[in-house]
Amino acid sequence: MDGIKADYTLELGSEEMANLVAQAMAHIAPFLDHLAAQPASDTCGGEQLARSLREGLPREGTPFSDLLDLLFGRLIPKTFNTAGPGYLAYIPGGGILHSAVADLIADSVNRYVGVWAAAPALAQLEVNVGRWFCDIVSYPEEALGLLTSGGSMSNFIGIVTARRNKLPENFLSGTLYTSDQTHYSVSKAAVLAGFPPSNVRLVPSDSRFRINLEELREMIRHDRDAGMTPFLIVGNAGTTNTGAVDDLSAMADLAEREGMWLHVDAAYGGFFMLTDRGRQAMRGIERAESITLDPHKGLFLPYGTGSLLVRDGSTLRKAHSVRAVYLPDTEHEPDLVDLSQVSPELSRAFRGLRVWLPLKMHGIGPFQRNLEEKLQLAGWINAQLREIEELEIVAEPQLTVLAFRLRLPGQDDTSINRLTRRFMDEVNARRRVYLSSTVIQGRFLVRICVLSFRTHLERMQMALEDIKAAIAKVVR
Ligand SMILES: Cc1ncc(COP(=O)(O)O)c(C=O)c1O
Repeated sequence: MDGIKADYTLELGSEEMANLVAQAMAHIAPFLDHLAAQPASDTCGGEQLARSLREGLPREGTPFSDLLDLLFGRLIPKTFNTAGPGYLAYIPGGGILHSAVADLIADSVNRYVGVWAAAPALAQLEVNVGRWFCDIVSYPEEALGLLTSGGSMSNFIGIVTARRNKLPENFLSGTLYTSDQTHYSVSKAAVLAGFPPSNVRLVPSDSRFRINLEELREMIRHDRDAGMTPFLIVGNAGTTNTGAVDDLSAMADLAEREGMWLHVDAAYGGFFMLTDRGRQAMRGIERAESITLDPHKGLFLPYGTGSLLVRDGSTLRKAHSVRAVYLPDTEHEPDLVDLSQVSPELSRAFRGLRVWLPLKMHGIGPFQRNLEEKLQLAGWINAQLREIEELEIVAEPQLTVLAFRLRLPGQDDTSINRLTRRFMDEVNARRRVYLSSTVIQGRFLVRICVLSFRTHLERMQMALEDIKAAIAKVVR
């Protein structure tokens, strides 16, 4: 028709597509090949760099090659090297390339998996992944697993699901209980779910940083007497601070007796269910009504993939199901799942493929073996550090996190904290490993978390050397 101008710029031909991917890959492959030689962290000048990038909406295009040079040459290097073997801070994972390739496929075909009718087989792949995770935690047939953007979102959905299944529409008398070691995303989720912050009870933890069950029982009893409605207990299967695993069996007993919902935050620890040690530590997890576990931690995926599992799939449906006339008829097939009916999202990324592809390509074996190795590495470094007189191990690894500080006889906590921080900065300044810290009961602690698939013994030996060198510099 006259006057209608078509623009074809964004519709690439096959050669252009191949070129685009090849150019990107020409940067990605050498970058990943040299990860081990890159600093474990380098954000020096990062603030200035960030500010220098501010600009208006681009009117003109820039050659792809220039943009790749900017990214790989200047921007990516000024970061924590979260993909590298020396990243022992916070909760690592690494980020397997298989998932990046799966994203390329998923985003290229751009199919819609929010309602199964739009892509029945692809939605099924994602449901399969959820089912595999349910099998890992020994959930029954009627369980359902959902992929989310991460642990925070899974905790949020878990809490909303508990609220919708356990409390009336006017839910403000509902109280929830979790240890003082719990990740802050749980308190944040409770607030986002509509609870006043004062309805979140933080229960003291014991000497191994696990929830104190006596205090928990007492708080629940006290709240009931005061006319509140205790409805949810959140347990930990691996805290961020020290990797502590609560006594999940005892918590399940208590929740059952009290008619409360048990949610377990296993964002970090959950995939250790693939190991004997992990199954021992997390005994009872299968009795929880819901579980958060993060593939972008314990399954080594790139950031952006969490999961929430519920023991009874109908609870997710009850919490989320709302109909709309403009959508395809949903779910006449009871065995096929509309992901939009069991989660907050409608349009969603096809996250299933980034989990499904690597698991189908390799089977679970390499993941399992990597987790076993990380348990051994955490045990190894712990044993080495115990031999060092100037260190006090405050939290021995229950899984693969340990926390420690300087032992300085005769000095008070304030100076131990100050010197321990200096010690950590010294270790990190060597740039072969990157460690992070936490503060528990006023004590500044250095943490090591071993979870990247790229971390092996030689990197832990470097960590040990750098720790010894930093002690020599700060203490002696
Ligand atoms: C135990 C635990 N729960 C929840 C979260 C939040 O997960 P995400 O960062 O994926 O939102 C984390 C993050 O490290 C965590 O360690």
